[in-house]
Amino acid sequence: MIQRKSSLFLLLLWAFTLTLGAQHRTTVTLSDGWKFKKGETKDAHTVGIKDDGWQTVSVPHDWAISGPFILDGNGSTGKLPWQDQAWYRRELAIPATAVGQRMYLVFDGVMAFPKVYVNGKLAGEWDYGYNSFSVDITDFVTPGGKNVLAVHADTRNFDSRWYPGAGIYRKVELLTVAPVHVDIWGTYVTTPIVKPHYVDVRVSTKVNNFAAERANVTVMHEILSDGGQVVAKGSFGKWINAGQQSTLESTLTVTDPVRWDVDHPYLYRLVTRVQQDGEIVDEYITNFGVRTIRFDPDHGFYLNDRRVQLRGVNLHHDHGPLGAAFYPRAMERQLEIMKSMGVNAIRNSHNTAAPELLEMCDRMGLLFFNEAFDKYDAKAAILEDTDFETFAQRNVHNFVVRDRNHPSVFLWSVGNEIPDVQNNDNNGFQRLHTMVNYVRKYDPTRPVTLANDQLGNAARRHFDYYDVHSWNYGRRYRLARQMEPNKSVIISESASTLSTRGFYEFPLPEDKTAFTKSLQVSSYDLNAPWWAEIADDDFMWQQEEPYIAGEFVWTGFDYLGEPTPYDNTTVKEMGFTDEAAARSSYFGIVDLVGIPKDRYYLYKSYWLPEENMIHILPHWNWPERVGENVPVFVYTNGDEAELFLNGKSQGRRSKQPKSENSVDRFRLMWNDVVYDSGELKVVAYKAGRKIGEQTLKTAGKATKLRLTPDRTRIHANGQDLSYVLIEALDAEGNLAPLAMDEINLSLMGTGSIAGVGNGNPQSFAPFQSHEVELFYGKAMIILKSGQEPGKMTLKASADKLEAATAVIGTE
Ligand code: GAL
Repeated sequence: MIQRKSSLFLLLLWAFTLTLGAQHRTTVTLSDGWKFKKGETKDAHTVGIKDDGWQTVSVPHDWAISGPFILDGNGSTGKLPWQDQAWYRRELAIPATAVGQRMYLVFDGVMAFPKVYVNGKLAGEWDYGYNSFSVDITDFVTPGGKNVLAVHADTRNFDSRWYPGAGIYRKVELLTVAPVHVDIWGTYVTTPIVKPHYVDVRVSTKVNNFAAERANVTVMHEILSDGGQVVAKGSFGKWINAGQQSTLESTLTVTDPVRWDVDHPYLYRLVTRVQQDGEIVDEYITNFGVRTIRFDPDHGFYLNDRRVQLRGVNLHHDHGPLGAAFYPRAMERQLEIMKSMGVNAIRNSHNTAAPELLEMCDRMGLLFFNEAFDKYDAKAAILEDTDFETFAQRNVHNFVVRDRNHPSVFLWSVGNEIPDVQNNDNNGFQRLHTMVNYVRKYDPTRPVTLANDQLGNAARRHFDYYDVHSWNYGRRYRLARQMEPNKSVIISESASTLSTRGFYEFPLPEDKTAFTKSLQVSSYDLNAPWWAEIADDDFMWQQEEPYIAGEFVWTGFDYLGEPTPYDNTTVKEMGFTDEAAARSSYFGIVDLVGIPKDRYYLYKSYWLPEENMIHILPHWNWPERVGENVPVFVYTNGDEAELFLNGKSQGRRSKQPKSENSVDRFRLMWNDVVYDSGELKVVAYKAGRKIGEQTLKTAGKATKLRLTPDRTRIHANGQDLSYVLIEALDAEGNLAPLAMDEINLSLMGTGSIAGVGNGNPQSFAPFQSHEVELFYGKAMIILKSGQEPGKMTLKASADKLEAATAVIGTE
C-alpha cells in the first residue's frame, strides 16, 4: 500500500487538537449513496466531475450479476459481463471535530486492482481482488468540508477459472481514531499454555502514535466470558515516540477456561483500552477462543486432544443470484445448510474470504481451512511489473494478520494447485518458501499447507516446506504420504461428483464420465470427471486410512462458472456451439440457490449417523417408462431397508461395510425395479431395529404454488435476506417434480427482490427479475429488506396454478 507522507501543517493540527481531548474510535460502514459508472470516464477521480447522471448503488455491489448473460461467452467464468472497468463515487461525511484524528478506509474486497482517490488525489491502491486492505486517508481529507471518494475497479487484466464478480463486492468501512490508537487488525491473541485449570493468554497489541509528541501509553486489557463477566485483566505501559508504532505484550491468565469446540463454540471477548496521559483514547474488541489443535502423523486431526474427522466442504465466494456481493445472511444461510448435513469444516476455495465468514465459523463451531490463492492468481493478480516477494509479503500479511485471532482457523493454505510451485519451475520452491515463511512470521501457532494435484511431483518433496499433506482427488496423496509418513493427510478436494437437481437419466451410467447430450447430469450421484470420484469412494478411503484427517468435498454449493462437463471446449467436441456451454457448476451438494440435491442426503446419512433419515430417489413420475426399469436408491443412516412398490416388496437390502465397491457400503440400491405409477415405500432398520419409514407418491397434475420463506422476520437494515422457496404441488400437496412453469412475482412493502434462480446450470434468465421459472418443481426468490420497518408481501402466480402469498416482517 502506498502510504502518503503527512504534511507539517497537519502535524501541527494534530498537536493542537490533542489538547482538545481525544475520542474513541468510530466505524462507519459505507453502504449507501454510491454513484456508479461502468467503462472509461475521463476525470472520474476529480472532485468537480458531475456524477448526478450515474447509477445510484449500494455496497456490496457486483456490477456483472445483473447480466445480461453472454450466450456464446465463456461458461467457465459464468457468461456474465464481469470483464471491464468502472468507477464508484460517494461523499465522505467527515465532521470538523475529526481534525487531528486519524482516518482509514478499510476495504474487504474490490475486484480488481482498486485505486482509491480522495478529493482528486490517489490515496492508495491494491492489486489482489480478494484481499482486505486499508488506506490511510488522513492527509487527503478536509474535516468539516466536502470530501469526495472515488474508487476505480478494473478487471480487464484479471482472469479466473470461475466467476470472480466485479466491483466493490464486500463492505467498506471508514474508521476514525485518535492519533494514538490500536493499529488495523492490531491485536494478536495466542494461548501458549492451555491446561485444564488455566490458560495463559498472550496479547500482543500494536499501537500507533501519530501524535506530534512522544506519548505515555498504557494498554489495558480485560477478558470477558461469554456472559460478560471479567475473568482476567492486566495493563502495560510504555513511551512511544512520535510517528512510531510499538508492540506491547501482555500475558493474562484465565482460570478454568472454557474450550472452543465444534460442538461448543465458546468465545471470550478481549476489550483493549489505550490510555494516553491518563485518558482513554481508544477501545478495541477482539473475540478469541481457547482450544488446542494438532495433527498426528498416523491419526489425523486433534481438537482439544480429541480426534475430529474433518467433514468439510469447499465453498467458492459467490452467492448464486447475488453474485460476488457479500451479504452476511447469504453466507450464514450457506453455513446453516452445510451444518445441517453434518459439516464441521469449511475450506474457502481458493481465495481470502470475507472477514464475516470467519466470525460466523467461530460462532457456529466450524473449523476453517484458510486459503490465500489459487493457481490462477499468480497470473491474474500480479501485473507484469510486480515483484513476487512484495506481492506475497503484502497479501500474506493482510490475510494472516486479519484472520489469526479466529479459533476456527486450524490451517493456513498458501495456495491451490499452483503448478510451477509444485514442480519447482521458475523458482517454484523459493516462492513456496517465501509464502510459507510469511505465514509463519505472522502466525507461528498454526500449521501451513499447499493444496496439490500433480501426483508425480511429490517426488520433488515440496511437502518439506510445509506441515500437512493436502491433496485433491483420486488418492493422489499416496506418494507424498509414502515418502513422508510423518505428516498427516487432508483430502483438500474430494468427490467432484456431478449432478443436476431433480434430473435423472436411464440407464445408470456405465462409467463415471458417461455424460450425455442432455447438457444436464443425472442425479443418481454416479458421475464425476475423469480426475475425480464419487462421494462414496472418499468415505471408503477414510475408513481404511486413519491417518487421513478428513475431506473437503468439491463443493458444498454450486457456484457460477466452471460448468464441467459442459464447458465450451467439451460441448464443442460434442458437436454443439458455445451457446450450449452452461454458466454454473454441477459439482454442488446443493444447487446454486441452496436447494439440496439428492447427494445432500447421502452425506447426511454418513456424517450424522445419529439422526434418523430416509431419502428416496428418483422422483416417481415416469409416465413414459411404465413397464420399464427405474432404479431406486435410498440414502439412510439405517443399515438395511425394505422397498415396496404399490404394496409389493421389492426386497430387503443391506449396506455392505466390507465391499470393495464403495457404493455398496453407503447406499441401498434396487436396480431392477419395474416402474408403475403409485407409491414407493421404504422401511428402514438399524442394527435390526426399525428406525422409520418414508413414502414417495406419483404426483398428479400441478395445481397450486407454495411459498416457504426460510425466515419470516428479518432486520430492516437494508442488507438482511429472506430466501423464499417456491414449489408447484398437486391437489394432494405432493411436489410436482416435472413442473417447469414460468412464475410471475409481485412484491409490495418494505423491501425488494434481490435475486431469483432455480439451480438450472443451463438457465440464462436474469437473476434480477420479477419472473422465475420452476426447475423440476422448485425455484428460489431472495428478498432483501429496506431500511424501513414494516412488512413485505410476496405474491407468486402462474397460468393454471393457484397463486401463493408470503409475508415477511422487517423490523
Ligand atoms: C480442482 C481445482 C478446483 C476445481 C476442481 C473441479 O482441481 O482445485 O478449483 O477446479 O478441480 O473438480
